[in-house]
Amino acid sequence: MTHREDGTIPPEGYRLEITPEAITLSASDAAGRFYGEQTLRQLRGPSAFRAAGFAPDPVPCGVVTDHPRFAWRGCLLDVARNFRTKAEVLRFIDLLAAHKLNVLHFHLTDDQGWRVQIPEFPRLTSVGGWRHGSMVGRHDGPERDGRPHGGFYTTDDLREIVAYAAQRHITVVPEIDVPGHSQAAIAAYPELGTGEPVEVWTSWGVNPRLLDPKESTVDFYRRVLDAVLEIFPSEVIAIGGDEVPGATERHAWFVDRMIEHLESRGRRALGWDEILDGKPATSAIIGSWRGEEAGVVAAKAGHDVVMCPEQHVYLDHRQADHPDEPIPVGFLRTLADFYAYEPYPADLPEDARPRILGAQAQVWTEHLDSVRRVDYAVFPRLCAFAEVVWSSGPRDFGEFSARLAEAHLPRLDALGVEYRALDGPHPWQRRPGVPGRPR
Ligand code: ACM
Repeated sequence: MTHREDGTIPPEGYRLEITPEAITLSASDAAGRFYGEQTLRQLRGPSAFRAAGFAPDPVPCGVVTDHPRFAWRGCLLDVARNFRTKAEVLRFIDLLAAHKLNVLHFHLTDDQGWRVQIPEFPRLTSVGGWRHGSMVGRHDGPERDGRPHGGFYTTDDLREIVAYAAQRHITVVPEIDVPGHSQAAIAAYPELGTGEPVEVWTSWGVNPRLLDPKESTVDFYRRVLDAVLEIFPSEVIAIGGDEVPGATERHAWFVDRMIEHLESRGRRALGWDEILDGKPATSAIIGSWRGEEAGVVAAKAGHDVVMCPEQHVYLDHRQADHPDEPIPVGFLRTLADFYAYEPYPADLPEDARPRILGAQAQVWTEHLDSVRRVDYAVFPRLCAFAEVVWSSGPRDFGEFSARLAEAHLPRLDALGVEYRALDGPHPWQRRPGVPGRPR
């Protein structure tokens, strides 16, 4: 294959020309070359997706000229509720890259676990990294499964993950969630909360236990962020800000201190849309998750926005209304719904469109306690999402689903992805008797 520099090709774009004599890949940047190679891999047939390829198909002659619609093509992976091993994270990064996604929003801390080693505060992981049990498909009541679980990544593990992702043109955006979703940190250092001892949460949902937004807590989290910045070169660092019951001005003040601290270090904060209530600096990027309206409000106010509305792009939410669907939670969002998602909200004014950086699918894992469960929830809906954020032009679900079935599911098979078959779960993927929580 011949590589050519071509400054006229847009960022991350490429031109792949295949003739009987030669394959020529032109791009203006390394990401474009990488995506051209991904397309070539697709053309070589499913065996090119195996860990060791054999007998790749001959590639057809032709020209592909291509570039992404959005600069932020993200997927959030929650490793706080249920830990995913480093090897599983690296595999997930491979799967994102194969779909030309370029941001892994790495949800590293929550009520149910703290996953990032902070050498100065070892109890965050020695205590906060371990959960005594969980509820398995239930939300209310005292029942727990009594199965302890957890884990964390060392700073070297995380550096490896960041480097592996960078080789695949994926930015890892770490999230340290404050001032809610912090019970694991409070379990480790009770003085961050009321001082009362608590354990890493075995429940889930909106938690009334919050960080106490006092100076010493700000100081603690500044030091945490500084340790995080040493590991993660991403310009954008996520600080959470979601679901803070009884939020006061003091909580908004706390979030502002985090935004300001990141700015002072030359980075930018990404917060969930609740932080808009505190009128944060416009340098903060807003993740519009409770719907699309916050994204419109934020964009009009001058914030950059990542669209991730729970009504549309939450991959943990149920994908069918059938009784066999395992642990059905959240909104019903089928493959067709994912394919129909439009990241620009309908009522977004034209002049605010440049503020929409892109969109992000989200994988919350309270109900996804194994990589096999994650595969089932994520694929093939993430394939539809990937096309939404990459491709311009009209979308026809009939055409997409035929292409998915004929060309792409065989690639997922070759990759060893245990996706949800188009006609529903295999018997071993069902979870009879586990109620879930459909909305
Ligand atoms: C969220 O789903 N709480 C961002």
